[in-house]
Amino acid sequence: MDASLQQRYLEELKAFLRIPSISTDPSHKGDMLAAAEFVVAQLESAGMRNVGLVERQGSNPIVYGDWLDAPGKPVLLMYGHYDVQPPDPLDEWKSPPFEPEVRGSNIYARGSADDKGLTLILIKAVERLMQRDGRLPVNVRFLIEGEEESGGEHISEFVQSGDTRLKADAAVICDTEMFAPELPTICVGLRGIVYGELHVQGAEADLHSGVYGGAAPNPIQAIAEILTALKDRDGHILIPGFYDRVQPPSPTEREAWARLPFDPEHFRAQEMKAPAITGEPEKGILERMWARPTLEVHGIRGGFTGEGAKTVIPARAVAKISMRLVADQQPDQASAQLASAVATACPKGVTAEWKPFHSAAPSMTDPNNKFIQVCAQAMTEVFGNKTVYIRSGGSIPIAGLFDKHLGIPSVLAGFGLPDDNLHSPNEKLYLPNFYRGIEAIMRYLEMLAGVTK
Ligand code: BES
Ligand code: MN
Ligand code: MN
Repeated sequence: MDASLQQRYLEELKAFLRIPSISTDPSHKGDMLAAAEFVVAQLESAGMRNVGLVERQGSNPIVYGDWLDAPGKPVLLMYGHYDVQPPDPLDEWKSPPFEPEVRGSNIYARGSADDKGLTLILIKAVERLMQRDGRLPVNVRFLIEGEEESGGEHISEFVQSGDTRLKADAAVICDTEMFAPELPTICVGLRGIVYGELHVQGAEADLHSGVYGGAAPNPIQAIAEILTALKDRDGHILIPGFYDRVQPPSPTEREAWARLPFDPEHFRAQEMKAPAITGEPEKGILERMWARPTLEVHGIRGGFTGEGAKTVIPARAVAKISMRLVADQQPDQASAQLASAVATACPKGVTAEWKPFHSAAPSMTDPNNKFIQVCAQAMTEVFGNKTVYIRSGGSIPIAGLFDKHLGIPSVLAGFGLPDDNLHSPNEKLYLPNFYRGIEAIMRYLEMLAGVTK
């Protein structure tokens, strides 16, 4: 790709990244619309037709656009998301999260890898083919949403609505990572998720900790006790029935994982940058992250957290908790199992209530699917290395929904890297992957034209 084209794409990416489209924060409603409009303009200049917003009550609009002039050829549903995670803690960013900065071969900004950069890869691939050939080798529909990072309930409704704009043979989801730089990767398994809050109530109001301490129940202590009753020190989840539906990876899959270039010490010291790798000692590290469920606490709110000291026993506390699920676990069942384990573990003197927010089922795709095989060939060609198949510990709710409601496979071709700092300060995108990603998707569409439906 020539330098001036790269420069133009880079400038457009920067403009996209400057919009602080944080979907979980209601004060950014205007930015969500601005980001959706940006995507609309991009799809229009790429030559897409029927471009517009799919609006639902109270939602961040889904952006739709299509090009369906290749009769007899497959229809691909291209998915990405324009919303991003909150950027905090702000003081840990080397450059401000919404002022994209190129340092070396990377561009740093919130959303660079997750998912604005990768979404733009899909759009630019199509734009270039349209500009070069005046047409596309296959049919495409774009579905770019703005609520992925906050649960995606509206796109889930839309996918179930039976809308004819969803008719496709396969989905291409550009929202995952490569296993290593230079190693083109297709993700064939994602974990599901159940996210919610645990509300614990003790006395009616905060109490003086000297006057009542020794006799009063403490909701934060109760949360600690509940959490340790739910998971032991080796990472085993103690919720009754929780592992019943967990399917172990097949021998073939285990062999493939064993061939991946994975060095635990490098992973610990350079990628996680943590003092130790934790979790179920009898399971491999990749298996722990890809094929085992988790229970994590994300934050505990309650009591006095300001400067200085205040001697108080809090009346209430809240813990934000999620479980990652693997096939064949079911979100509703796992959530109910958690609720009853919480009830059993709840200590005397407090009440505890589990309030689920959102959930998504785990999803698995058969790598022998022809849409995946052709994509792997295209990526192998462009990157010059054989494409590998991995799973990922993250969740993309839409993948399971495409399978369940549209009956189509999802090709998860992602171009992020393991050290992109997703959801964390200093998120970045490796720019060579941005440009090669565009070429790989172009090549994929060209090669797909030779595939019968
Ligand atoms: N793109 C990520 C998921 C991901 C990251 C998949 C890395 C594979 C590799 C996605 O934007 C994400 O963060 N999803 C959320 C889903 C949740 C909010 C429902 C997640 O996994 O926490
Ligand atoms: Mn994402
Ligand atoms: Mn994300």
